[in-house]
Amino acid sequence: MGTTNESQITLGIVGAGAMGTGIAQVAATAGVRVMIFDTRADAAAKSRNDIAKRLQKRVDEGKLKAEDAEATVACLNVTDRIEGLGDCDVVVEAIVEDLDVKRALFQKLEEIVREDAILASNTSSLPIGAIAAGLKHRQRIAGLHFFNPVPLMRLVEVIPGPETTDAVIDTLVALGSRFGRDPVVVRDTPGFLVNLGGRAYTTEALAILNENVATPAQIDAVMRDCCGFRMGPFELMDLTGIDVNFPVTRFVHESFFGDPRLRSTPFHRYLLETGQLGRKTGRGFYDYGAGAQKPSADAAGTDAAAKAVVLVEPGERLKALAAELGLTLLDKDDGVAPLLAAPLGEDATAFATRTKSDARRLVALDLSFDTSVRITLMTAPGFDPAIRQSVVDALIGSGRAVTAIADSPGFIAQRIVAMVANLGCEMAQMGLAAPHDIDKAMRLGLNYPKGPLEFAQSVGPSNVLSVLRAMQSLTGDDRYRPSQWLRRRAALDVAVWTE
Ligand code: NAI
Repeated sequence: MGTTNESQITLGIVGAGAMGTGIAQVAATAGVRVMIFDTRADAAAKSRNDIAKRLQKRVDEGKLKAEDAEATVACLNVTDRIEGLGDCDVVVEAIVEDLDVKRALFQKLEEIVREDAILASNTSSLPIGAIAAGLKHRQRIAGLHFFNPVPLMRLVEVIPGPETTDAVIDTLVALGSRFGRDPVVVRDTPGFLVNLGGRAYTTEALAILNENVATPAQIDAVMRDCCGFRMGPFELMDLTGIDVNFPVTRFVHESFFGDPRLRSTPFHRYLLETGQLGRKTGRGFYDYGAGAQKPSADAAGTDAAAKAVVLVEPGERLKALAAELGLTLLDKDDGVAPLLAAPLGEDATAFATRTKSDARRLVALDLSFDTSVRITLMTAPGFDPAIRQSVVDALIGSGRAVTAIADSPGFIAQRIVAMVANLGCEMAQMGLAAPHDIDKAMRLGLNYPKGPLEFAQSVGPSNVLSVLRAMQSLTGDDRYRPSQWLRRRAALDVAVWTE
């Protein structure tokens, strides 16, 4: 076949469900002739009608010209027999996620299409190599993994199987671009790139919840306000549905032979077992029932703000904050003033014991990210409530919201971002995709404000390494073992994208 940008090609779609319909829409919008097939009677015709209705709505809203909508719909053809796909140059399947069913379909397609036609799968979890195994022409089989909803999600992962030729991958990359998507070539590994990389954000939030350190509302607020995520991890899981994200999490964890970095928690499964699937059932991590109120993430203020404090091992940010709050800094511990610190990776207990500070009066602040609207603070067991409240009040007095949590190595944001960055580094180490493509895929596929390597670089590779090492040593949990990719780049003081 010729280059997809210039020549007219015919794209076959098998499976006219949510994904097949979305793929058909972006292809037809790009002027590609589409042929849709589904075994369910009328499903292909319904898919065509659904796209026409969606486009008409955009025309009515003034967002699309009527003639453009007509031209798109004119590209959409349906067939009720699989043989109708005979003249397709590329066929993408988006049928049920079942290896045997997909294999049988590809075998059938091999009999129907030309020998140089490309056959692609939209699978999100089956190995492309396993789908290709047993087929006659394995060099033309690849993954073309779109994201839901396709017209809104720009990312498409392009996955070669063991025998896929470069020419096939190049053609699919060009086709993805022609559809207005951003293609990223990814190795054929479990979860590909985005479904693997996305595990860190949610499972570390679940780990924090499991330790009873903070509530979902507190964790979500910190990740939004301090780290720039559009949605907190629990809001996100409730939106996608526990019936989707728990099985994906378990699949990825099992596929990596129980790697603790990818581990979830019993409560995640409990929500699935009890039918608390998130927004769709009215209850998940949050209650969406009528009259339900979202729990507050903010510590309440009183009127007892601290005036004088001692800074323990202060860096520039802690000094600047104390100055901004107008706090008097005591040179020596007077035995009564709050002790303020900004630990990296350590919990308040570890920090107090290492620095031989009075743990009852130590208030640890997370100053690693944006602290302009919210600051997280934590204290060690046995803390003095009046001291803690006096620091809360001083921070509230500066116009910030305060998230006050139990003792935690890495607070909330440090540990979640460290885990996101570490998994991104591990994906780079495994060669799943080019380092910059890992960032691009995670930004586009998951709406992250930064890619995982960008997070590592902006926090500083050695800082991320410090957080992980402290966590691994304090918890004894290899979940926190640093990626060798990160260790090397931190040690050499080179950018995390350095290959
Ligand atoms: P869906 O259930 O909405 O649609 C599947 C369609 O395939 C149905 O219309 C069904 O009648 C048809 N079908 C089933 N077996 C068939 C066969 N042998 N021949 C022809 N048609 C057949 O499913 P959805 O959500 O569109 O997913 C389809 C594929 O895309 C799956 O492999 C899934 O893992 C993958 N995927 C799904 C995403 C999602 O968020 N829903 C995201 C990315 C990939």
